[in-house]
Amino acid sequence: MLLNCNDYRREAKKCLPRMVYDFIDGGADAEDCLRRNTDDLARVTLLPRCLRDVTLVETSLTLFGQVWKSPIALAPTGFNGLLRPDADIALARAAAQAGNPFVVSTAANVRLERIAAESNGIRWLQLYVMGSRQIAEQIMRRARNCGYSALVLTVDVAVGGNRERDTRNGLKMPFKPSLRTLLDFSLHPTWALRFLGQGAPKFANLENLDETEQSPELAHALGNRQMDRSVAWDNLKWLREHWHGPLLLKGILHPEDARRAVEAGVDGLIVSNHGGRQLDLVPSTIQALPGVLSAVANAIPVLVDGGFRRGGDVAKALALGAKAVLLGRPVLWGLAVAGEQGVRTILETFNAELLQAMTLLGATRLHELNAGNLATSKC
Ligand SMILES: Cc1cc2nc3c(=O)[nH]c(=O)nc-3n(C[C@H](O)[C@H](O)[C@H](O)COP(=O)(O)O)c2cc1C
Repeated sequence: MLLNCNDYRREAKKCLPRMVYDFIDGGADAEDCLRRNTDDLARVTLLPRCLRDVTLVETSLTLFGQVWKSPIALAPTGFNGLLRPDADIALARAAAQAGNPFVVSTAANVRLERIAAESNGIRWLQLYVMGSRQIAEQIMRRARNCGYSALVLTVDVAVGGNRERDTRNGLKMPFKPSLRTLLDFSLHPTWALRFLGQGAPKFANLENLDETEQSPELAHALGNRQMDRSVAWDNLKWLREHWHGPLLLKGILHPEDARRAVEAGVDGLIVSNHGGRQLDLVPSTIQALPGVLSAVANAIPVLVDGGFRRGGDVAKALALGAKAVLLGRPVLWGLAVAGEQGVRTILETFNAELLQAMTLLGATRLHELNAGNLATSKC
């Protein structure tokens, strides 16, 4: 029976070739950070308030003028086409139906315009800067023209993390499958037939750029996470010239960086360690969150991702002061098992779990989850 996202994870392991499952599941180096994200979340405990009227409990959130069904968004994930053809469309549609926003990655396998045309929910664009700056400018312009409402600059990928599972499985660009990989593919015929039907997924948003730069080189850089390492605080001005909507930084862990972002006029932060896929040495996000929140001092909204596996985990982040939580792997497990419907089920499950947690905690609105609920702070 598939009741929660960990059930979907187990099922995804069965339906995907090892190379694909590991690409989603894996982390960097010894995967300590990956484990810390979930372990530290499990250690946070909340105290309920009783005898409050919880007949009506409301999970909705208004952020940057848009209403979300709950404080949950789909994190940007690249290369989703490895799981299924048109995976980004399935994610966008499921997110729209559940009422949760979708952050589309620069490394999506479907063009931004098509995602916009085939879904009608809240969409943000996640930006990686590589190659010439004009490429980022074009991507931002295209996103703006088709209704992406916020820009998320990922700041924790100066170079790619050391993902040893991917190295062992031979997953790199350009992709040349080994005999072992081909055998593994053949043991997953449903996946393999879909994959053969669509061909190897492409970085669709790097194609047909009106630039002299060759898209194969760009695709190679993005696939191997070779970003523009010179991107620095000063460049936020440049981004502002090309993006007039809300601008968020994703991958903030240090309180000083959080303070600096506020000074620079950024509109929001996402506390993230890239799901443990970049620097293995960093704290879990639930551990880093309080430092960032106190540095920001309510000046701008702070979101968080990494290791959230239950609606109750979302309540923990909110009690600490986060505005919302992003989900990476859980929605991908749903996608692997049951496509769009699987993603929708995962989101509905998180939304229902959050509603139940709030009801039992005695919180009828999101803002009623606060430091007063933190059992650990009283020890
Ligand atoms: C398969 C996969 C691909 C990802 N691709 C991107 C990406 O393109 N851009 C980005 O900013 N973060 C990317 N991330 C990181 C997620 O946005 C998010 O920070 C992380 O998955 C959250 O942790 P969780 O998976 O435990 O929920 C990726 C994560 C996964 C699992």
